[in-house]
Amino acid sequence: MQLSLSLTASPEFVIGAGASRCFGGSTKEVTKLERLLADFHHGKEAMFFNSGYEANVGVYSTLPQPGDAIIHDTMAHASIHDGIRYGRASIVKAFAHNDLQSLDAVLEKVKLGSADISCGRRTVFVALESYYSMEGDISPIPEILSHVRSALPAGNGVLIVGEAHLGIVGPNGSGYMSLGTGEGKYIANFARGLMYSTGPSFPTVAAIRASIATLSSTDREQLRANIMLFYQLILMHPRRQALSKSGISKEAFVAIIPIITKQGQCHKLQQRLQVYGFRTHAVRYPAVPEEERVRLMLHADNKPDEIKGFARVLMEWGWEIMQVGPRPETRL
Ligand SMILES: Cc1ncc(COP(=O)(O)O)c(C=O)c1O
Repeated sequence: MQLSLSLTASPEFVIGAGASRCFGGSTKEVTKLERLLADFHHGKEAMFFNSGYEANVGVYSTLPQPGDAIIHDTMAHASIHDGIRYGRASIVKAFAHNDLQSLDAVLEKVKLGSADISCGRRTVFVALESYYSMEGDISPIPEILSHVRSALPAGNGVLIVGEAHLGIVGPNGSGYMSLGTGEGKYIANFARGLMYSTGPSFPTVAAIRASIATLSSTDREQLRANIMLFYQLILMHPRRQALSKSGISKEAFVAIIPIITKQGQCHKLQQRLQVYGFRTHAVRYPAVPEEERVRLMLHADNKPDEIKGFARVLMEWGWEIMQVGPRPETRL
């Protein structure tokens, strides 16, 4: 519905971009979209990349300069790692997932290793995601920001937050923050994925406009109600205590939910859910470092009976596994 509204709002559109953003591919529609995105995210500017992967590679391979450092959460997305690999930062270090003490220790190490950084002459980029969908947890961004500020009082700390899972945090799901002004021109002239790839076609632009309209619509309230119903069913389940190592995130209350499973079980759980008509995704190494998981995505148009059915199948499966598996390590 939103997509057809978005398409018909521009009867003059040309389907393809025709060229890279640097050679005429920055059509009027793309520029308008970037304005819309900047406003939606309460930013000054926005820059459109053809994918989140390209955006991360573009940002991490262009912004950090020799002498700079990148400190990333261990669970940072593959595209962040790839961007770092293509880039020129002199120091790259990881801190333990969402762990402020580990972040402090790494910041100290980086300052000790570089006089330019401790004096504020070079920059430390801190690479994060707002929601880690494979872990089911939200990054403590305000706390991370305050730790970075106190470790780098000269103001040479920059947070880069991946908001791939739009719709989860912030007003209308607009996320924590967007790339500020100042870097845009530099990225446009150096990010290879932007320079050497054709700009977005009109249907892509229209689909993004439609997604933003959906995020601000009543669908979002319905999705929230569905998330609450799912968590209520799981957390109030009579066997919840017995299944206490379930791996289902207790605090995130979001639409993308990882269910950690015992080794060798993620495909079995996925197949069981499939038998009952629920499509989920089984995720194993190397897509995730260690533990297997099944990733569930709730939607605004899921009906309460579907959510109840899903929770029932999930909990029954967990209970069966606990009866037959080696008890101490068994997780849902
Ligand atoms: C955290 C994160 N960052 C980046 C990406 C890449 O985004 P895209 O699929 O638009 O290339 C993904 C994709 O799933 C992601 O989960």
